Amino acid sequence: MLPVYQNDDKKSFAYVSLHKRWPVLIGQAVNDIRIETSQLPDGPKKDEAESIITQMEAVQNSVAQNLPIEPITADVYDKDEYNKFVFKPNSTETYKWSERGWLDCECLIYRKLQIVVESSKHWRGYDYFARMKNDTFVKSSSAVSTLANRYHKIYNEFKSKESEVSPEALKIVTHELLQTCLWGNATDLSLLVTVSMEELRALQVSAAAREKESVLDNDFEDVWKQLNSEKGGRVDIILDNSGFELYTDLVFTLFLLDSGLAEQVVLHPKTLPWMISDVLPTDLPTIIGMLTDPSSFPDSREDLDFIAGKLHQYLNDGQLLLRTSPFWVTSVPYWEIKPNGILGGDAIYRDLRCSKLAIFKGDLNYRKLTGDCVWPYDTPFRTAIKDLANTGIPVLALRTVKADVIVGLEPGRGEQLDKEWKENHPDDEPHAWAWGGKYAVVSFNK
Ligand code: F6P
Ligand code: MG
Repeated sequence: MLPVYQNDDKKSFAYVSLHKRWPVLIGQAVNDIRIETSQLPDGPKKDEAESIITQMEAVQNSVAQNLPIEPITADVYDKDEYNKFVFKPNSTETYKWSERGWLDCECLIYRKLQIVVESSKHWRGYDYFARMKNDTFVKSSSAVSTLANRYHKIYNEFKSKESEVSPEALKIVTHELLQTCLWGNATDLSLLVTVSMEELRALQVSAAAREKESVLDNDFEDVWKQLNSEKGGRVDIILDNSGFELYTDLVFTLFLLDSGLAEQVVLHPKTLPWMISDVLPTDLPTIIGMLTDPSSFPDSREDLDFIAGKLHQYLNDGQLLLRTSPFWVTSVPYWEIKPNGILGGDAIYRDLRCSKLAIFKGDLNYRKLTGDCVWPYDTPFRTAIKDLANTGIPVLALRTVKADVIVGLEPGRGEQLDKEWKENHPDDEPHAWAWGGKYAVVSFNK
């Protein structure tokens, strides 16, 4: 069994996460509850906030001081799974945060915060990251308008054609919108300000050069073959972040449905506040509501109303669905998406077996697909996703690289990136090129 990335490994982003990032992010949740509380009238909800804040700060202190991890005591479905890794073998003593794996600890932190809120009387279901998610979304207004404008034009252009849209045109737009989904808010949206297929084609020449540099494993051709293998069918998106990234996923969804490349799209959000910005079910109506609200987005009203209207239509007629499962907020690898997979992996397997394409968005989903293991760079994606590779589920990972694990690279490419990074950043770890979202992968397996 390969080792996973460990919190005490100074060469890993895990080390930075434990010491610099986690105490801060817990502080952000606490800060939100303070803001919310300050706006409440006196009463039981306000009174209860102090206890919530105290318990959250205890988690923060435990992480910041690197104390032995408190086991989960609440009677929750994933208690045993977490406690198995918290306790030392045959002992009542627990490990310190620095002594355990990165992925498990990171998931456990979010779980612990949510258990505090769920165990309360007046704050159950409260999303202490919603304020940050929504504020950030409003700040991306120019990119939001640009993409709405772009999609509206694609739609009109396709609709105005007398004959069926050519597969070549569909492929070009699929590629463009998948790239937008991939890069999320890092996308150079100026690329999208274009009026016709011809101009887009020209722009793609320069985009292709950038793509070659930054997308380290690129299976787009196989993805296209899979999507275009038959009309209709169901596409699943295992979502990552709310805000602009969700919006790009929704525009891609519209394209799939409008073009007939899919007949149904199922979105899979998280069921608890997760990795700060991940999508919760309530984020979908919030984001669509913001799109229709001129005080959030004053420009490009016609295009935004068009996008929001189409989303409503597909939600109403059942072609666009949200489906939740607590499986997405456990820390188990997605290798458990298989017959008899634990903690809900079996049900997800049965569900995704009906999918024409299951798109896993973002960094954390990729870490779980690959088990956050220390794989050699040139490990085939198929090898790294283990049992999931043999389920017949067509898996696409669309991920900008923000953590250590990465597979599917040409032999020698990872080592070359290490070398170049060290030459240009002598004080950094050689592998730090993988931590900043500069690179991406579009990895597919069927
Ligand atoms: O690697 C940094 C990090 O914050 C991880 O802690 C987490 O896995 C991930 O990024 C979240 O990124 P994304 O939203 O792309 O999943
Ligand atoms: Mg995320």
